[in-house]
Amino acid sequence: MASAMISLASATPSASLSVQETLMGKTRLASGCVSTLFNKEKGKPSIKKKSFGQISMTVAVNVSRFEGIVMAPPDPILGVSEAFRADIDVKKLNLGVGAYRNEELQPYVLDVVKKAENLMLERGENKEYLSIEGLAAFNKATAELLFGADNPVIEQQRVATVQGLSGTGSLRLAAALIERYFPGAKVLISSPTWGNHKNIFNDARVPWSEYRYYDPKTVGLDFEGMISDIKAAPEGSFVLLHGCAHNRTGIDPTPEQWEKIADIIQEKNHIPFFDVAYQGFASGSLDADASSVRLFAARGMELLVAQSYSKNLGLYAERIGAINVVCSSADAAARVKSQLKRIARPMYSNPPVHGARIVANVVGDPALFDEWKAEMEMMAGRIKNVRQKLFDSLSAKDKSGKDWSFILKQIGMFSFTGLNKTQSDNMTNKWHVYMTKDGRISLAGLSLAKCEYLADAIMDSFHNVS
Ligand code: LMR
Repeated sequence: MASAMISLASATPSASLSVQETLMGKTRLASGCVSTLFNKEKGKPSIKKKSFGQISMTVAVNVSRFEGIVMAPPDPILGVSEAFRADIDVKKLNLGVGAYRNEELQPYVLDVVKKAENLMLERGENKEYLSIEGLAAFNKATAELLFGADNPVIEQQRVATVQGLSGTGSLRLAAALIERYFPGAKVLISSPTWGNHKNIFNDARVPWSEYRYYDPKTVGLDFEGMISDIKAAPEGSFVLLHGCAHNRTGIDPTPEQWEKIADIIQEKNHIPFFDVAYQGFASGSLDADASSVRLFAARGMELLVAQSYSKNLGLYAERIGAINVVCSSADAAARVKSQLKRIARPMYSNPPVHGARIVANVVGDPALFDEWKAEMEMMAGRIKNVRQKLFDSLSAKDKSGKDWSFILKQIGMFSFTGLNKTQSDNMTNKWHVYMTKDGRISLAGLSLAKCEYLADAIMDSFHNVS
């Protein structure tokens, strides 16, 4: 009994105790952690406790030190894919995660990506570390794609570009920059927004609040609400904007509305912060999808832009993107870049090279670049086709007079259906259609062949479930 429990520091792989011995010796603390130790020499219990937050650092070998950690809920988006995989029904449809599928509903690797990878193999490129800021050729290409190579912000070297771990990682770098250099500044986030935005700012300890964006009555943009909330926010706030194809709603401001948004942001001395995850993928045109960002840059405003190549090049798992900070001088941009690198270094040291090389190779080779644009148009076109077919199916089947035209007005890979949580549950439980519980469906996971089935599921959920 004397040595029934040992501190982890003295535990060896061979240490094993009987359940009975352990149970006799343990004491449970309020934190849920075991921390009674038996002094090996004297045979007396002694309590040794070193506490890091909620978790006691001493423990019996067969009771986990992680006892106090509760189960996290599944991710509202990526968790849907896990549930989908577990369903054995043949009719099942995964419209949860925003990831492009072909008409056979299979993941799609772009031809230009395969060609770029072959080139990279032929060249026998090495696996040396990248610099903290990422691949120079990628950083140049990505900023030029975003702003246009002849944009004064590029020519005057006023953009601090750092390669990031796709959109999320790039947003996270910027959030850390805000937390460090704009303490107390708020980020204004659209209501609703992409499910991960709030997590990113919460984890970076950046305060945020929401501005109105979606109007459930029209299933459209609440422009007046948006403007008045941005106006009411404390001067110098960061305003998070979706560059194109708003995720979750698929509802974008018109060019005239973008001008008004820029007016009010300028008036209030706010800092625009764009999330651009769909450049070229929303409309099929790289330039059209960057027009909102370019409009703000043309006004001489300082702004932040996070980019992702997950959707437009299908590089989901490569985690390739960038954070760009447009500053009013080249000098400021150089300092901002140095601080972004300083933030990145202890987080992940330096970014992965593979996706960066793919982007640099595709953008840097005129033939591959043209092929990419054609493939992007093809993907955007397929999504537009299923959007149209879904609308046609719903309109033909639904005799209630409900107007489904909002589906056609939305853009990008998502449609915000207006279905509530119970109705979305019915879509999954009865129809095996997997989607996020807020009524968002990813049309990139839909085929023409499945549109009728989806229309039946939506109509049943909309009309028969409240
Ligand atoms: C989505 O919104 O479904 C995608 O952007 C995937 C993700 O990471 O959430």
